[in-house]
Amino acid sequence: MLKLANVTKSYGENIAVHSASFAIDKPMMVGVIGRSGAGKSTLLRMLNRLTDATSGEITFDGLNVTALRGTAKRQWQSQCAMIFQQFNLVPRMDVVSNVLHGTLNRRSTFSTMFNLYPDEDIHRAIDILERLGIAQHAPKRAEALSGGQQQRVAIARALMQDPKIILADEPIASLDPMNAQVVMQSLRDIHEQDGRMVIANLHTLDTARRYCDRVIGMRDGAIVFDDTPEMLTTSSAREIYGADASFSEATTSTQIEPDETVQRRLVDIAAQ
Ligand SMILES: Nc1ncnc2c1ncn2[C@@H]1O[C@H](COP(=O)(O)OP(=O)(O)OP(=O)(O)O)[C@@H](O)[C@H]1O
Ligand SMILES: [Mg+2]
Repeated sequence: MLKLANVTKSYGENIAVHSASFAIDKPMMVGVIGRSGAGKSTLLRMLNRLTDATSGEITFDGLNVTALRGTAKRQWQSQCAMIFQQFNLVPRMDVVSNVLHGTLNRRSTFSTMFNLYPDEDIHRAIDILERLGIAQHAPKRAEALSGGQQQRVAIARALMQDPKIILADEPIASLDPMNAQVVMQSLRDIHEQDGRMVIANLHTLDTARRYCDRVIGMRDGAIVFDDTPEMLTTSSAREIYGADASFSEATTSTQIEPDETVQRRLVDIAAQ
């Protein structure tokens, strides 16, 4: 499906991503970990062509993604929706309109200017919000929602594009542990139920271990780990994070243990 061959991105002297190669041959949930500046965001941004690679090749089902131009490039970008740490919603706009923005790249400028959405799209937006447990917030302004709810709106907007791949850049970095779990579980469900590929940059080891089928570890722009979460031992984590003997899992952990209280509150949050 998705294949990277020696993908490199340099900013002048600085090499953000250095000859990254991997193949993902079926839809799975992939976590990308590494310390700040390791190249995680740059890798994701090259995948959906927000940033162009300096060299190397990205292909998806035989399509040369790195070579796409114009309409073909925009089509690709709607195939791989991106979710950001800061949600990137329009704060004063209502939730359902934010979600409908996910259809932007297949609508005319005219209909966008006048907020003319087909009924069918509106119904679909509500269905998606329902699925994510936030349909009751549809008429509210996005800014009136909690961080976790806003991130689910961002996921809903991504789903509106009906993407093959969902790219998430630190989707839970601004959330409290409870909301972080709800958002990660939503991404996991989307992967499992829809068969979409999810690639998420994550800043904690425990999240990568719990939710991902595969973990890619980056250090100084290079991929230094690519395996199942079971293989992510303390010593391999040490290698990824470049920490010395004082390395502690706690520094890369949000400590979100799914005890009973947490599970109960999760159900509450989902019902809100
Ligand atoms: N637009 C840019 N111009 C110049 N240098 C950049 C640019 N974007 C990223 N870099 C550099 O590339 C390297 C990798 O950055 P990147 O943002 O991909 O790291 P990251 O792993 O996502 O870090 P973080 O965990 O802090 O988000 C860094 O050294 C960064 O300074
Ligand atoms: Mg980043």
